[in-house]
Amino acid sequence: MTAEIDVRILDQRTPEERDRPFLPGMGRTWLLPFYDVLTKVARVGELHERTVELAGIAAGETVVDVGCGTGNLSLAVLAAQHDARVTGLDPDGASLRRAARKAKRRRLSLTLVQGYADRIPAEDGSLDHVVSSLALHHIDDEGRVAFAQDALRALKPGGKVTIVDLGGPTPTEHEAGHEAGHEAGHEAGHADHGHGLAHGLRHLSALMRSRMAQNPSVARNLGNGIVALLADAGFPGAREVDHVDHRFGRVTLVQATRP
Ligand SMILES: C[S@@+](CC[C@H](N)C(=O)[O-])C[C@H]1O[C@@H](n2cnc3c(N)ncnc32)[C@H](O)[C@@H]1O
Repeated sequence: MTAEIDVRILDQRTPEERDRPFLPGMGRTWLLPFYDVLTKVARVGELHERTVELAGIAAGETVVDVGCGTGNLSLAVLAAQHDARVTGLDPDGASLRRAARKAKRRRLSLTLVQGYADRIPAEDGSLDHVVSSLALHHIDDEGRVAFAQDALRALKPGGKVTIVDLGGPTPTEHEAGHEAGHEAGHEAGHADHGHGLAHGLRHLSALMRSRMAQNPSVARNLGNGIVALLADAGFPGAREVDHVDHRFGRVTLVQATRP
């Protein structure tokens, strides 16, 4: 007999939150159908796997994935630990419906909550893990601070928050110069690099990197912004535990434990 799976979407927005704006995964709602294709090409799955590895989730543990979008980090948690109890949180109903379809296809139980990062769907001191992938740079200053404070509220003492997002320490002048040269090389080297998909991807990647670097939301993550955000909220040991030089920019993996 096959085990029953339970996939549900709960709308936990207040009446006022129904009109609250948010920045969707691809920046525009109509681009959502391309999200999973683009992130697959960009090998975002490898970031999710590394995040899950760093979080170290054990059987039976409770996890909330903040800004879960189409559910890829939640599903990576469940792929690594079938017996985790995972809830994905996101304001975007269309993304949550995609996440639900994917969980059903993979026969994985997943709860999806429509809501915002500043109200994590969990009782005080009840969670083992808060995880989040590429979502903080979508959230404004007030929302980020409220998210960090609410993660502290919702985690058990000893519970962990593990975040992967664009950002990290501000590059030194030397590194920034090297980076600019690297991008310029891509731009100037069109004739040498030939045409086709590889060239298109390089161009897209250079464009994304420069757009990301100028994006004020990503700028909040620079200068170790995520570490500072968590430390200010009351996670004294917050630190960058790894980083990845991704084609869309520097990606930081930050972790902290609730005292
Ligand atoms: C780039 S996507 C990342 C999705 C997913 N975590 C992943 O790694 O593929 C950013 C997500 O943040 C969500 N988001 C935007 N504002 C939010 C908020 N205030 N609270 C929670 N999630 C939010 C968006 O709806 C979107 O799904």
